[in-house]
Amino acid sequence: MPDTSKNTSPYTADRNIPGAFEGETVTRRRFMTGAAHATNGIAVGMIALPAIGFALGPNFKKLEERWEAVGRPDEFSPTEYISRTITVVAGAGETGKTTVYLRERNPDIDHEPEDEYNQYIAISTRCMHLGCPVRYVPASQRFICPCHGGVYDFLGEVQGGPPVRPLDRFYTRVKDGLVELGPRFSVNSELKRFSPRDPAQDLDALGQYLFPSRPTIRKIPGT
Ligand code: FES
Repeated sequence: MPDTSKNTSPYTADRNIPGAFEGETVTRRRFMTGAAHATNGIAVGMIALPAIGFALGPNFKKLEERWEAVGRPDEFSPTEYISRTITVVAGAGETGKTTVYLRERNPDIDHEPEDEYNQYIAISTRCMHLGCPVRYVPASQRFICPCHGGVYDFLGEVQGGPPVRPLDRFYTRVKDGLVELGPRFSVNSELKRFSPRDPAQDLDALGQYLFPSRPTIRKIPGT
């Protein structure tokens, strides 16, 4: 019966591996191969981990729920917008500010369900094509985007051009005698509320599933 004890020995010399040293349990070739793989893994990790963190980090950033006073209720009309500048990113100076168009709710044209957060309508100026700032033109009662010709009607619904959904809105409320603006939210073509999405993300039909909200965005009323 053949002696197999040498083939199962932990020592390379016993296994008749060429060039093996006495007392050696791992061949130099295997050791060098393992060391090269480990070095490669560390190098790839050093490059990939910061990139992954940079890409995914914003998705897990907690959004601060800010409310900012923008005027007294009697400053707003149900038939025309006025603009206000608000802070959307605290601590970022002028770059953290944006323009918002505001008016009082008008039951003749505002048919989405009424609640304490939409007694004043606050329209975002961020175009829902690629994010250029839109401008309200009182003469035509339209929001116009200068970048690619996007046109929105008085309610912020798309009238023409490439935007994929109506202009985003902000929650509003009246507190201590002042109108306040709260978090931004997105709307679909029926002006149904959704948690804020990025421009170019359609919210009709399959769009709301294809472009889910970011995981840690706080759920806000009606979304
Ligand atoms: S960014 Fe507004 S139409 Fe393109």
